[in-house]
Amino acid sequence: MTPSTTVRAPAKINLHLGVGAPREDGFHPLMTVYHAVDLHDEVTVSDAEEWSVVVRGAAEGVPCDETNLALRAGRALAAHHGLDRAARIEILKGIPVAGGMAGGSADAAATLVALDRHWELDSGDAVLFALAAGLGSDVPFGLVGRNALGTGRGEQVEQLPGVESPRWWVVVPSPGEGLSTPAVYRRYDELRPDAPAQPAAPYRLVEFLEDPVAEVAALLHNDLQVAALDLRPDLADLLAAGEAAGALRGIVSGSGPTCVFLCADQPTAERVAQALRASYDVVLTACGPVRGALGR
Ligand code: C5P
Repeated sequence: MTPSTTVRAPAKINLHLGVGAPREDGFHPLMTVYHAVDLHDEVTVSDAEEWSVVVRGAAEGVPCDETNLALRAGRALAAHHGLDRAARIEILKGIPVAGGMAGGSADAAATLVALDRHWELDSGDAVLFALAAGLGSDVPFGLVGRNALGTGRGEQVEQLPGVESPRWWVVVPSPGEGLSTPAVYRRYDELRPDAPAQPAAPYRLVEFLEDPVAEVAALLHNDLQVAALDLRPDLADLLAAGEAAGALRGIVSGSGPTCVFLCADQPTAERVAQALRASYDVVLTACGPVRGALGR
């Protein structure tokens, strides 16, 4: 059997997503609180003559060509070290695709870590974080996981205190066809022409991260929700249904359309999930926080 290395890539939700007016480079300044949950993809790398990516599981809509972010991550790592090597990257999908949970970014982060270990490169954090930031705004968070404050365009991450082991339960229904992240940001610009240059810092939420989940639920916030709801008005019904079924709060995850419901405990999460399964095909439950691809 070909030797291989596997790394787990957790999904993220944004407990807070504050979005400012677009910068000159087109990206939006963010103030976000990321939270990694135990819905995950698994990335397995092995040596190969040519670069390739294979996606298994709920893989519909994931590109297997050069645009695949995990493939770009592998190539970027090899290029950084001046290596003429290639790998086969196998991704087992557990994270909803195009759902605002940064599944592609998590795969890219996991690929960096997996190949760094597989090839015994010992790149160091500074290199891995710089490569991650070059690949996408959410990729550096994929490396660290747990709770983190994201600034800049989301790529500057600072680990936050908070519960150390998975304790918060979420219900994650996938409401059909994905939304394009750039389209959601564009709609946000149209709906919020007066957005501040710098979004406000979520100080209260950061303070409450070690407190009971109900306190956190009350502070959940997503500036992009207004744009996601405008593009997908049906999401308002989903948010209402989850809260009516007993969730503490429901919000759109990142740019959507996946919604996340924070629940008081596991039995409540299972009840809410069961209620939503009457109307939605894929309803997952998950728990956070969990470690990122670096595993620490
Ligand atoms: O960085 P990433 O490739 O994940 O971003 C995807 C798209 O989302 C960008 O091309 C941009 O349209 C939008 N985006 C943004 N501001 C951010 C992050 C993403 O406008 N801070």
